[in-house]
Amino acid sequence: MRIVLLGPPGAGKGTQAKRICETYNIPHISTGDIFRENMKNDTPLGIKAKEYMAQGLLVPDELVVDMVEDRLKHEDVLNAGYGYLLDGFPRTVFQAAALCAINAKKDCELDFAINLDVPLDILIERVSGRRICPKCAATYHIKYKKPLVDGICDLDKTPLYQRDDDKKETVEKRIEIYQDQTFPLITFYEDKQKIININGLQHMTDVFNDIEKVLSGVR
Ligand code: AP5
Ligand code: ZN
Repeated sequence: MRIVLLGPPGAGKGTQAKRICETYNIPHISTGDIFRENMKNDTPLGIKAKEYMAQGLLVPDELVVDMVEDRLKHEDVLNAGYGYLLDGFPRTVFQAAALCAINAKKDCELDFAINLDVPLDILIERVSGRRICPKCAATYHIKYKKPLVDGICDLDKTPLYQRDDDKKETVEKRIEIYQDQTFPLITFYEDKQKIININGLQHMTDVFNDIEKVLSGVR
């Protein structure tokens, strides 16, 4: 199964991606996570990406497309029958067209573009309340998904942290960029009859149940 997850910052892409990938046994490929991992390790790609991410801007298309094309050659993707879930990619029409071309080389196409629909005014609260475990990458929320002990990961007892780009001003910039550059992808995938709109305002379990209803048709 080949899926892309669309939605503004804080829509719940990472949260749903984890559950979808566990259920359908496909690799979860998050371009944001790949960049953050590269930043942590001070790789040339990480150093370059940081310039943009810290300001809430998109990393240039060519860098992202090359990175995703390489990632889609990995064994986990091939073992899943050239299956994957892309979280945070594509983010521009250029990237979406590049993904079509990458799939075409494999004689494949996307199954679904799942769009998590969440009103923009909710996003700042979601993103600014997010806390992450540096060890296992589990995501929490100070109000909507509280850890058992404040500020500590339930799974490995590691202190949680807040992402650098989750500060209010940077989130506002990310939302602006989403509207300008990523929102048009909904029409792009509507035209290709791939779009599935999901109400992302519901409880996370209900969001997942709605996604399941669609995906179980091709299980
Ligand atoms: P990226 O890491 O992709 O961030 P994003 O798209 O802004 O999305 P987020 O991770 O902020 O949110 P999410 O939708 O995953 O929400 P989550 O599930 O965590 O990208 C970061 C940066 O990298 C970009 O700004 C850019 O610079 C660069 N980049 C990445 N990809 C790129 C690309 N393709 N091209 C160019 N640049 C790229 O949920 C958020 C919070 O809400 C959590 O705390 C969660 O617990 C909570 N929550 C989730 N669902 C619910 C719910 N239903 N109800 C209540 N709370 C909920
Ligand atoms: Zn943890």
